Amino acid sequence: EMSPQERAFQDRIDRGEKIEPKEWMPEGYRKTLIRQIGQHAHSEIVGQLPEGNWITRAPTLERTAILLAKVQDEAGHGLYLYCAAETLGVSRDELMEKLHSGQMKYSSIFNYPTLTWADIGAVGWLVDGAAIMNQVPLQRTSFGPYSRAMIRICKEESFHQRQGYDIMMKMAQGTSEQKAMAQDALNRFWYPSLMMFGPSDKESVHSAQSMAWKIKINTNDELRQKFVDQTVPQAEYLGLSIPDDTLNWNEEKGGYDFAEPDWSEFFEVLKGNGPCNKERLGARVKAWEDGAWFRDGLMAHAEKRAAARQA
Ligand code: 3HC
Repeated sequence: EMSPQERAFQDRIDRGEKIEPKEWMPEGYRKTLIRQIGQHAHSEIVGQLPEGNWITRAPTLERTAILLAKVQDEAGHGLYLYCAAETLGVSRDELMEKLHSGQMKYSSIFNYPTLTWADIGAVGWLVDGAAIMNQVPLQRTSFGPYSRAMIRICKEESFHQRQGYDIMMKMAQGTSEQKAMAQDALNRFWYPSLMMFGPSDKESVHSAQSMAWKIKINTNDELRQKFVDQTVPQAEYLGLSIPDDTLNWNEEKGGYDFAEPDWSEFFEVLKGNGPCNKERLGARVKAWEDGAWFRDGLMAHAEKRAAARQA
């Protein structure tokens, strides 16, 4: 049963109004947003690691410059999103602490390794492609700061996807070895990319409430279907094959039938048992610890300035 206050809040959401940080909101709404935005921010930050791995090994100076800019964009996205989460009354330190202690998650996809240069193409094409599919509707999400962050982020994200597809085109049109590398990258990244949208709708615990609050706009399965429908023709254009024998155009539904990812693998990755979980979290914890002297310095400087102003 909704209280009158909750009813009024839901009416505002239903009318399509944006909710701003200082306004009243149900505790569940606040908590769900902190979880989702915080998790999203962590994904942007941890997501720098698999691509950062190739900055010094990109095949040309031009590719290095592009990849460097792209990875820096991801850092920027993380920072916007942490700011959006902070407007809900959680501190950056608290979010960091929860990431480092495993109480908060980041996207499952970043627990897979980038073994070859073609993987950088596949990450841009598929991972950023899946990210945009999810983030374009989130531009209309009900919480103002999140919605505005998404508008900026989506602009950069579409450039990211194009740079990935451009790498894939180069590889797919290259020597037979290069084409084989592109195919291998697609084979390894296909199912983990499908997992990015979250568990199937029947296993998605948060979807119903999050959609009623317009924190989420689409279900996980809806977005996964759209992603497959968009990506299959792109793979055909590259002359690569999707690693799914059951893939088939379904005229009636106007979309592809496709194989589900191995959900037991997904849940293992969420529990911390993916191929790179320990390495990724270890890298973030080390960066946090290595940066302690710098944060201490900033705080000491701020305190000195405050004391000087009082004197
Ligand atoms: N990776 C890790 N955890 C996931 C996940 C994934 N791919 N998909 C779902 N989960 C978790 C949920 O967080 C939830 O766990 P929790 O209760 O402990 O938090 C559980 O699995 C059940 O899933 P639900 O479907 O009920 O969860 P949601 O309603 O939160 O839906 C979501 C999951 C679709 C990922 C949603 O949170 C969302 O849209 N988030 C915003 C987008 C986002 O986080 N994107 C990160 C992608 S990568 C990226 O942006 C970087 C890019 O620039 C490269």
